[in-house]
Amino acid sequence: MIGVNGSVRDTDRRLVVVTGASAGIGLAAAIELARRGDRLVLVGRDPSRLRTAAAEVREASGERPAVFRADFAVLDDVRQLAEQLRAAYDRIDVLANNAGAIVLAPVTTVDGFELSIQANHLAPFLLANLLADRVRRMVVTASGAHRSGVLDPDDLNAPLRRYRPLTAYGTSKQANILFTAEAARRWPAVGSYCFHPGVVRTRFGNESRLVAVGMRLLPLRSPGKGAQTLVWLANQDRSRLHDGGYYFDCRPRRPLRKAADPQLAARLWTTSAAAVGLPA
Ligand SMILES: NC(=O)c1ccc[n+]([C@@H]2O[C@H](COP(=O)([O-])OP(=O)(O)OC[C@H]3O[C@@H](n4cnc5c(N)ncnc54)[C@H](OP(=O)(O)O)[C@@H]3O)[C@@H](O)[C@H]2O)c1
Repeated sequence: MIGVNGSVRDTDRRLVVVTGASAGIGLAAAIELARRGDRLVLVGRDPSRLRTAAAEVREASGERPAVFRADFAVLDDVRQLAEQLRAAYDRIDVLANNAGAIVLAPVTTVDGFELSIQANHLAPFLLANLLADRVRRMVVTASGAHRSGVLDPDDLNAPLRRYRPLTAYGTSKQANILFTAEAARRWPAVGSYCFHPGVVRTRFGNESRLVAVGMRLLPLRSPGKGAQTLVWLANQDRSRLHDGGYYFDCRPRRPLRKAADPQLAARLWTTSAAAVGLPA
């Protein structure tokens, strides 16, 4: 709706919440969405990186994003974040569940879970559940690395027993794709989609010297290119998208069978809900 002076009223603009917005793909997506006119909420875990990201969004778009802090390694942070977002906004047009990390050594969180499955799956699962009645569309940053996943919904901590970073990471990304498909079945009012951004030069995995050197030397995608499908999924007319679908380069892609099994997705939902203390 256009205001009396010809400007679009703030409350008439879409509100987009981006997690993992302090860097990489999330920050690039936030900048592009703000440039296109959306109101932005940036979620990150580090206050100073969040401030810097907010300044970058402002400089690139003129938009002054709101910022909220939460560490997904702590489920109480996620619960508090959901409460704060609910208090601030009646409607979230797009929730971009993008935060994620590859965890190089076995870590058990304060909540008792392997860190990759918690930060990359359980925390965004909890956030989405606590906000679902306010969200119109959800876009999840998944990965082609789901091919390394060995998800057992009844044993979410299995990767801790013989820890391999890529297996733990791939398992959490397999969970992202299954979660998106099951969310589409359970929440018909929310358009739920996930995507693989390609291999993107970000801070991802840079605690590993090998990954950091690879990130610098290999001809990888820019964060802006990696964010393209997120921005596209946030903007496409819903009638043109497959609910619960997995996308790459703005096209639907079939994930591996282990990430496309509806029974596995339903079991994952039940055990994830129990893990974070939600009703199944
Ligand atoms: N880069 C790739 O090639 C690639 C490929 C496929 C999928 N992905 C996915 O893309 C998404 C974004 O990654 P990126 O490549 O942009 O990496 P990045 O530059 O490291 O950004 C990751 C973002 O997630 C946040 N984050 C990490 N752990 C968190 C935690 N415990 N609590 C809250 N926030 C946390 C980071 O916050 P801080 O600033 O505090 O670290 C940062 O904002 C991830 O889900 C990743 O799995 C990346």
